[in-house]
Amino acid sequence: MADSDMAWARLDPAHVPPEIDPAKPSVARVYDAILGGKDNFAADREVAAEAVAAMGDGGGGARMNRAALGRAVRFMSGMGVAQFLDLGSGLPTAQNTHQIAQAITPAARVVYVDNDRSAYVHGQALLVDNDSTTVVLADIREPDKLLAMPEVVGFLDFTQPVGLILNAVIHHLLDEEDPYGIVARYKEVLVPGSYMQLTHFCDDTPEAKANEQVLRESLGRGQTRSRAQIARFFAGLDLVEPGLVFLPEWRPDEPVRFPLDAGGKLMLVGVGRKP
Ligand SMILES: C[S@@+](CC[C@H](N)C(=O)[O-])C[C@H]1O[C@@H](n2cnc3c(N)ncnc32)[C@H](O)[C@@H]1O
Repeated sequence: MADSDMAWARLDPAHVPPEIDPAKPSVARVYDAILGGKDNFAADREVAAEAVAAMGDGGGGARMNRAALGRAVRFMSGMGVAQFLDLGSGLPTAQNTHQIAQAITPAARVVYVDNDRSAYVHGQALLVDNDSTTVVLADIREPDKLLAMPEVVGFLDFTQPVGLILNAVIHHLLDEEDPYGIVARYKEVLVPGSYMQLTHFCDDTPEAKANEQVLRESLGRGQTRSRAQIARFFAGLDLVEPGLVFLPEWRPDEPVRFPLDAGGKLMLVGVGRKP
């Protein structure tokens, strides 16, 4: 077993769980590899290298995506949101939603949802001592099923504002899977004063389109969308300032350097408030 595969030893020193096929790359583990994480296999690293070459950003876009998540969670926490539903949450990495939210509001509750078993197994290991955070193995393309799960509705109080996090996940839903209908269903159950954050591959650059090609071929998923198409996900919400912008431009902590590089233009980010 390669060194980086030893991350599984956190749960089971003997072997990788049988449900996980190390030879088949997964979205979650490829992304982990791009971020420089250790929870990935050779097959994932191969796709990650191809994607980074296509993006021409050295993985910068993925890091900016994580940073944008952090700023959005801080923003929502500052607006009094104390519970988060993080869909397509991925493998735990540095500064996950619960760590950011609970640093501001210690009692904040967070539900992580991912359909990748690696993300589920590692999430459980990370959260073993955290009663305010849970991880659920489910497919976000089945919103009604997900929103009926006791682990979700019993954990979050949907009569109170919720921060819905859709960080770099909706571009893994293909048009034929009705991404707008799916997102609409999640928005529908939010009470006024709730927020939705979304980051999404944008088709503005040739690099983003090249990345889409790599992901489609290797994972069968990945879809860039235009600015107007991404804006449609916010229908019914009021976009908070500065609106739908490239990752580094959303409420930056530091001055932004223009022109943005390929990583900076990989995705758009927005946060909408339910009126
Ligand atoms: C690029 S990663 C983003 C992870 C994290 N949200 C972030 O931005 O750092 C996309 C994640 O969405 C998950 N995902 C993709 N399609 C999904 C689905 N239909 N249901 C649940 N999770 C999904 C993948 O397994 C992966 O962990």
